[in-house]
Amino acid sequence: MKALLFGLLCAVFSPLLLVGSLVFACRVRFINMPRGISGTAYEPYMARLILHLIGSRRDAVSERIAAHLPALSPLVMRILVHPMANAARWSGFRGSFFAFPGPRPSTLLTFISHRTHFFDTAIAAAAEPNSPIRQFVFLGAGWDTRAYGPLSEGVDLAGTGVKVFEVDEPPTQQVKVHALRAAGAEHSHVTFAPTDFNQQSWLDSLREHGFDPALPTFILWEGVTMYLDDAAVSKTLAQVAGLAPGSRIAFDFLSRELVFSRKPYVVMGTYMRYALKSFYGERMHFGISTAAPARQQVMDFFEGRGLVVENFEPLGREAGRSTPIGGLVVASR
Ligand SMILES: C[S@@+](CC[C@H](N)C(=O)[O-])C[C@H]1O[C@@H](n2cnc3c(N)ncnc32)[C@H](O)[C@@H]1O
Repeated sequence: MKALLFGLLCAVFSPLLLVGSLVFACRVRFINMPRGISGTAYEPYMARLILHLIGSRRDAVSERIAAHLPALSPLVMRILVHPMANAARWSGFRGSFFAFPGPRPSTLLTFISHRTHFFDTAIAAAAEPNSPIRQFVFLGAGWDTRAYGPLSEGVDLAGTGVKVFEVDEPPTQQVKVHALRAAGAEHSHVTFAPTDFNQQSWLDSLREHGFDPALPTFILWEGVTMYLDDAAVSKTLAQVAGLAPGSRIAFDFLSRELVFSRKPYVVMGTYMRYALKSFYGERMHFGISTAAPARQQVMDFFEGRGLVVENFEPLGREAGRSTPIGGLVVASR
């Protein structure tokens, strides 16, 4: 019944949704991309925004900055995001796409909800009063608004007194700071370190901005590794291994089989590469093999990199000969 009502509402809103999607796509291509602003940052952000709008996950600042992000704009909010969220809210339909924490095993369509929950939980644990963590770093922060809580888990990094840093490429970060200001969102507890990982070490950049490598640090590296090469990922993990004891990094990765269009993802991988390149102008370079046994492959990857895997969840089925589409990891020094 809920699914039927959701379908009916989407049908009623379909002219708006269609035009909204077109306006959004044009704004990505003609406003975002020429200014070097991340396009892929909208994907996880929009998922979190909709989860907030339908009341599944609290993240008020994601809504406040929305109209100030170049590809969204008040018009796109009115004719695309709000109608979609209203259809889910009014019908009560969550399906697997709008569900939070999301179905397990997750799929390529639902993994962002799973991933969001996994990282929310990791941040909540790192922010507990008895946690050794004294600094939070969002590497490749995009439009992530977790630093400006409070979030559903009761976490409010603004109120903990810990240092918070965000690192991203300069054009993307400038837009984010502008959006936070325009939305009147409190951000004085966050230090912004504009950095292109390909040009400069994020650790050097953080040090220049007041980061103390002697303090235990939590690093969130969400939705980024797939866009970097093997050397850049290995270098970052080696740098984390050199931080203060108790430090940890939480990140996600895609399966190497998917990134390089190998069995069983020949078709899906080829399509994803094409879609990412043509829509956002971005390429995937990094993945960890998840061919069975996936968990062992992940452990092998970390062995010798000076980090211990504290938590691993596959994205997709891990049983038997299955090849998950990727994984979620918390690794500590
Ligand atoms: C898919 S977005 C994820 C954003 C955010 N972590 C989230 O989950 O909402 C990838 C982010 O990585 C950043 N990024 C990609 N390549 C980068 C590089 N070479 N240097 C710095 N940041 C980079 C992009 O600007 C973008 O914000």
